[in-house]
Amino acid sequence: MNQAQLDSAIAHADLVEQATLDSLKTFLSIESISTLPAHRTHVRMAAEHVRDELIAIGMQNVQLIEGIVSDTKHEFPLIQAEWMNAPGKPVLLLYSHYDVQPVDPLDKWVSPPFDPVIRNGKLFARGVADDKGQLWIMLKSIEAYMKTAGTLPVNIKILFEGEEESDGEHIARYVASKPDWLKDVTSVVVLDGAMFAAGLPTITNGLRGIVCAEVEVTTLSGDRHSGMDGGAAPNAVRELARIVAALESDDGKVLIPGFYDDILAPDALELASWAKIPFDPKKYQADIGATELIGDQSVSVPHRMWGLPTLEVHGIGGGFSEVGFKTVIPAKANAKISMRLVPGMDPAKIESAFAAFIAKVTPPQAKSTVRFLGNAPAMVVQTSDQSVQLCAQALRETFHKDPVYIRCGGSIPIAGQFARDLNVPILITGFYNEQEANLHAPNENFEVAAFYEGIEAFIRYLYLMGQ
Ligand code: BES
Ligand code: MN
Ligand code: MN
Repeated sequence: MNQAQLDSAIAHADLVEQATLDSLKTFLSIESISTLPAHRTHVRMAAEHVRDELIAIGMQNVQLIEGIVSDTKHEFPLIQAEWMNAPGKPVLLLYSHYDVQPVDPLDKWVSPPFDPVIRNGKLFARGVADDKGQLWIMLKSIEAYMKTAGTLPVNIKILFEGEEESDGEHIARYVASKPDWLKDVTSVVVLDGAMFAAGLPTITNGLRGIVCAEVEVTTLSGDRHSGMDGGAAPNAVRELARIVAALESDDGKVLIPGFYDDILAPDALELASWAKIPFDPKKYQADIGATELIGDQSVSVPHRMWGLPTLEVHGIGGGFSEVGFKTVIPAKANAKISMRLVPGMDPAKIESAFAAFIAKVTPPQAKSTVRFLGNAPAMVVQTSDQSVQLCAQALRETFHKDPVYIRCGGSIPIAGQFARDLNVPILITGFYNEQEANLHAPNENFEVAAFYEGIEAFIRYLYLMGQ
C-alpha cells in the first residue's frame, strides 16, 4: 500500500464524518449493560449490530461465538472477524468491548444515557468513551480503506467481548484455550485506553490488576425487632462495618498481612515521565469535588493511582435504608470490595490473604463468608517494540505532538492474558480525554473532534504497520 492510498483513506473518513457520527449514535442507543440481567437482550442486540456492521464493511468469517447460557450463568457472545488477504504482513488482533456500565444515578445525567447528543463539542452517552466509540473508530478506519483502496495494509483479526464490565469469563476462557485462530497473531491492539489530557496523545504502558470480592455477614436466623431484642441480638450491619473498618489503618494503609510485600516499584524512566505530564493535584482535587486527597503523601498523586495498590468498598447492603424508618436488627449484610493490584502482586495470594484476614477479624457473634468474583494481574507493556513505536509515530503525525507514556489505574483483565497466552506485544491506547470523559459515571462523553482524530490516527497506524 502506498502513501496515496493512505491519503485517500483519510480523505474518505473526513468526507463521511457526519454519517460516521450518526452510525455511532445508533450503536450507542443500544442499552448493552452487561452486569444487569434486565438488559440481556440489549447486550445481544449490540453484538448482532456490530456483527452486521463488520460484514457490511467487508470483514470476513464474521461470527458470534456463543458462551454458556444456563440457569445460573449467562455469558455474552464474542465477536470474531478477520481479513487475511495481505500475505507476509503482520496480523493485528484488535480488541474492544461492546458492553457498558450501568447508568445509575440516572437523575445526574443532563441528557438520557442512551439518547446520544452533542453539547459543547462533546458527544454524551453511556459507553461513548468506554468503549463503543473506540470500537467504532476501528471499524470506521477499516471501512475507509475498504471504500477507497479496496484492501487493507495489514492482516486483521477482530475479537470483541460483551462482558468486560461484568466478569469477562468468556473471553478469558477462549484465549486460555489457545485456539488455532489466534496462533498467527503478531501483535494486539487494545483500544480501551485514554488520552491523559485533551490533545495529548497517550500510550498506556501499564495497567493495575484487580481482585473483586463480596463479603457476607450473618448474625441471626432472621431480622429482629430492635426494641425487643436490641442489646442482646447481634446486628449484621454493625459487625460488617467493623470488619470493613479493620481492613485499613486511619491513614489508609491496607492492614492485610503481606499486602505490600511483593510490589515492584516503577522504574526511573517511568517516574521521570510521570513527573512531566500535565497534572495539578489541586485542580484534580477541585475537579472531583474532594476536600482532601488521600494516600501515601511521600509519592506523587499519579504514582498513587498507577503504582500503588488500593482497597475500595463499592457498596454496603443490609437492613433498611429506604425512605421512612424501620426499627430492625438486620440478620444479614454484605459488602462489595475490590483491590487494585500493581506489578509484582499475585492475585491468588492476595485473595487468600484477604479471606484469611476477614476470617480473623470476624467476631464470634457473626459468621462471614467471602466470595471472589474475578481477578486479573497487573501488567506492564514493553514500549520498545515496533508495534508500540509505530503507534507513537501515527499519534505524532495526527496530533503533531510527541505522545506521553502513562499507566492506567484501571484494569483491562484480558490485556494481561493476551500478553501471557499469545506472547506477543500489546499496544494499549485510546482517544477520549480521561480527565473529562466521566467513565463509569453520569454524563460520560467523548470530544467529537478527538473521535475523528482517533480515526485518522488509527488509519495511519494500520498503514505504518503494513510498511
Ligand atoms: N476501559 C476500562 C479500563 C480503563 C480505565 C482504561 C481508564 C484506561 C483508563 C475498562 O472498561 C474497565 O472499566 N475495567 C474495569 C475492569 C473491572 C470491571 C474488572 C475496571 O477497571 O474497573
Ligand atoms: Mn473499557
Ligand atoms: Mn469500563
